[in-house]
Amino acid sequence: MQLKEKKVLITGGTRGIGRCMLQELIDGGASHIAIIARDKKSLKEISESYPEVKFIRISGDVGNIDVLREAAARIEDKWGSLDILINNAGIVSAGPLEELPDEEIYDQVAVNYTAILLLTKYCIPLLKNAEEAAILNISSGLGLIGMPFYGVYASTKAAIRQFSDSMRRELAPFNISVTCSYPTATDTDMMQKFEGREMDSPEFVAKRSIEGLLKKELHVVFGGEEREKDSELNFMDPKKFDDKIANGYEQLKESSTGHKAM
Ligand SMILES: NC(=O)c1ccc[n+]([C@@H]2O[C@H](COP(=O)([O-])OP(=O)(O)OC[C@H]3O[C@@H](n4cnc5c(N)ncnc54)[C@H](OP(=O)(O)O)[C@@H]3O)[C@@H](O)[C@H]2O)c1
Repeated sequence: MQLKEKKVLITGGTRGIGRCMLQELIDGGASHIAIIARDKKSLKEISESYPEVKFIRISGDVGNIDVLREAAARIEDKWGSLDILINNAGIVSAGPLEELPDEEIYDQVAVNYTAILLLTKYCIPLLKNAEEAAILNISSGLGLIGMPFYGVYASTKAAIRQFSDSMRRELAPFNISVTCSYPTATDTDMMQKFEGREMDSPEFVAKRSIEGLLKKELHVVFGGEEREKDSELNFMDPKKFDDKIANGYEQLKESSTGHKAM
């Protein structure tokens, strides 16, 4: 697939990985871009920075069903079809489950997961109207390995993996590919309150994820060899992986404390 003249809808295209994916899309020649994000000002600034691109700005919360319906309706009205859907917007609130406010549990599920199900549902007729279409879902390394203190976030991200596999198989007869990307720690606003290790740059994660989408890769996994080994151990010998986690328990608790970007 090529980006030239493509019509794209991206959630959370105003900051972090989403903003860098937007740049990749524009550099590749995408001509029509719809963005959903809450902050009106950044949506306006971005759309004014690229006069060559036709934008649809949808300011609102992806956790609000009306915002998702409005996005699909406006695209249908203005473009009639959609080539690429990128489900990227996400939030996190980490910590011991019994200490997480109920609202933050609901919101993580609504924004990270339910919104993806609904927006994809509303966009399928538009994607079917394109000659060849693609969906990119942004999961997380935590969607492959469930870590302590990230039970809510990690389970929303694991659900995205399962949803991606299902939709890939369901949409195959319609020439709609589905790629799922699994970034690990990436240097964005989401990680401002995370006390931790080295991070990937959002530019790198965006470039690889868009490349995966264009090449119709099924899964784009980040984190290198160490992560690959951890994933294998987690799958093949989970008890052994539990022991590894138990050794770093206090450190993991400390580094996740206060990790919140909502
Ligand atoms: N950074 C990491 O280490 C990392 C690792 C693995 C996976 N990921 C995943 O990668 C994706 C992007 O993360 P990021 O680090 O780039 O995040 P970020 O820097 O915090 O940016 C989030 C983007 O999503 C938008 N957004 C957030 N909540 C929204 C809502 N309720 N409705 C509409 N838009 C919303 C934000 O715009 P507004 O605030 O204006 O709405 C912003 O454009 C997320 O799904 C995240 O879970 C990130």
